[in-house]
Amino acid sequence: MSATLTPLPVARTDRRDALVTRLFEANLATYDLATIYLGDRLGLYTALHEHGPMTAAQLAAHTRTHERYIREWLEQQTVTGILDVEDAQADATVRQYGISTEHAEVLLERDSLSYLAPLGRFTIGVLSGLTKVLEAFKTGSGVAYPDYGVDAREGQAEANRTAFVNLLGAQWLPAIPDLHARLQADPPARVADMACGTGWSSLALARAYPKVVIDGFDSDEASIVLAQQHARAEGLHDRVTFAVRDAADQRVQGTYDVVTIFEALHDMARPVEALRVARTLLKGGGSVLIADERVHEHFTPHNIDERLFYGWSVLFCLPTGMAETPSAGTGAVMRPDTLQRYAAEAGFREVEVLPIAHDLWRFYRLYP
Ligand SMILES: C[S@@+](CC[C@H](N)C(=O)[O-])C[C@H]1O[C@@H](n2cnc3c(N)ncnc32)[C@H](O)[C@@H]1O
Repeated sequence: MSATLTPLPVARTDRRDALVTRLFEANLATYDLATIYLGDRLGLYTALHEHGPMTAAQLAAHTRTHERYIREWLEQQTVTGILDVEDAQADATVRQYGISTEHAEVLLERDSLSYLAPLGRFTIGVLSGLTKVLEAFKTGSGVAYPDYGVDAREGQAEANRTAFVNLLGAQWLPAIPDLHARLQADPPARVADMACGTGWSSLALARAYPKVVIDGFDSDEASIVLAQQHARAEGLHDRVTFAVRDAADQRVQGTYDVVTIFEALHDMARPVEALRVARTLLKGGGSVLIADERVHEHFTPHNIDERLFYGWSVLFCLPTGMAETPSAGTGAVMRPDTLQRYAAEAGFREVEVLPIAHDLWRFYRLYP
């Protein structure tokens, strides 16, 4: 017996078909990110860029990988339009594949604002936590940040790094004249970079302002180990130190001209306590600088701008924030009025929204 479906009115078939198309495209986009992840992690794009067009066997030899897998990956990358092939009609074993300079910038050029390879790493890392997220949905528990592993940590850090390297010292801080002046002045300003991750904000700040002394804190031990390595590699370890600390830990001590929190307040289980600690760390005249997701003032259905933020929130930011008890359960969609409330509860008298343009972040300055 076959079920007969009542035909849908045309307006509703349009809506149904739009979702069919969208999911099919999402399926293909997922495979793009996952296969980009392979090219990134196995050094395949790097080898093609450094040595020029290669056959599958040559690329496998250069990267110590298996020729049969590499051949399939090269064909897939060419079909999906990421790599180019010089002699498509030639036998599969002798075809030469290459990467264009435009695509090399997106996939390999770490300092370019167009560098998006970390997106593959981050997405794959976030999805690796999905089984635990499934459980957390049922129990109300969370998924600890380290449980998402190295790909989520490094993907997130590298994605933010390009913004810090290009914009922090060149645009964002110069747009705050009194802070910019203080960071250039004597005696050298002291900065606490709370939830600094693998340290790229602290290091970009130190590079932009050669006198400043910076202490970075993060509760994730593996991030701090990487941050310390980065500081040494950049030759900035004399002015930039990193330590494992929870931002809400009241034993954090020091006096600072500015406390920064880049894309991390919404991740914290106890954001009010963390802001209270930040306030007590400030010298007279000091302030807290926060960058967090540029979400809308209010929840808006079918709001395409917030798809990315809600994706991060459901799969990563909310579960990591819920991994501690008690938790404010903020999530990535921390609206300005939520931040205002947290700041007031932490004893700040004023929150200023700064006129700094950025697609993903809004900048706030908190005055005690
Ligand atoms: C999205 S990452 C941002 C890292 C860095 N600020 C950046 O922009 O690259 C969020 C960071 O917040 C840290 N974090 C979350 N809760 C924290 C807490 N209570 N104390 C200190 N760090 C915390 C995480 O370990 C993670 O490194």
